[in-house]
Amino acid sequence: MTRHFLRDDDLTPAEQAEVLDLAARMKRDPYLVRPLAGPRTVAVFFDKTSTRTRVSFATGIADLGGSPLVVESQSSQLGGKESIADTARVLERMVAAIVWRTYAQSGLEEMAANSRVPVINALSDEFHPCQILADLLTIREHKGTLAGLTLAYVGDAANNMAHSYLLGGATAGMHVRVAGPATHQPDPAVVADAERIAAATGGSVHVGTDPREAVSGADVVLTDTWVSMGQEAEKAERLRLFTDYQVDDALFGLADDEAVFMHCLPAYRGYEVSASVIDGPRSVVWDEAENRLHAQKALLAWLLSHE
Ligand code: CP
Ligand code: NVA
Repeated sequence: MTRHFLRDDDLTPAEQAEVLDLAARMKRDPYLVRPLAGPRTVAVFFDKTSTRTRVSFATGIADLGGSPLVVESQSSQLGGKESIADTARVLERMVAAIVWRTYAQSGLEEMAANSRVPVINALSDEFHPCQILADLLTIREHKGTLAGLTLAYVGDAANNMAHSYLLGGATAGMHVRVAGPATHQPDPAVVADAERIAAATGGSVHVGTDPREAVSGADVVLTDTWVSMGQEAEKAERLRLFTDYQVDDALFGLADDEAVFMHCLPAYRGYEVSASVIDGPRSVVWDEAENRLHAQKALLAWLLSHE
């Protein structure tokens, strides 16, 4: 049966570990497996802007022996003119996999329901699971392990990154803490899913409003933009609401002495993070960005070997 990757818990804990192990091996040996040799094409659709996701998928698909076809959705029939289901029925006859950055998660679900080739979520309003695979790979590199570590995310607790850290971190057996304003808390259904996963992996989930409580003693501190793509009209209100959640030296200083700072990027210095933290000695954001490439190559190879 075709496997898709629409949210972080589409991989079981054992499968997530397999993908991360393969990613680590492929980082050392970039052409270890070439399942797209032929070359087979992978379609990569963007409804929103992107730098890292676009370049890492295009490069990774080429490394796997394939041919990336990057499409701006507005230049295609997708997005109003032709249904998602009909698009999937056409694409599956031509390409090895479909990668899509879009707004609603339900669109990805419709694409996957109508596709016999793997569909990968390259960011939706609800989740950004490819980013979390890269983040977990980065944490493993810097900390040597995942299970048992405490991951603290502060800021917009209702966004795609917060949801993916909850699911992906719990899958890895981590203690996931999320803090954001009472008005911007995670979807309770996602929290419930993360709690259920954590109960099986030995991890835990804590959701609250106090950034200091979340960061205290944490091994990994993360944040994200306060204004996600599609929320630009709310910018002024959001900058006001999230002021107390900036990761600055005082907040980061509450974390473990060996804690690392991470951010999926793009970052807005002086808003969600101070320049002193993101450009400081314990920031691993450039490793994190590079690992998008390795993690996604492993993910693609894994999905293509489980069809
Ligand atoms: N982190 C991330 O997804 O970056 P892009 O928006 O540049 O793809
Ligand atoms: N939460 C951000 C992540 C960007 C990679 C957004 O959706 O815009």
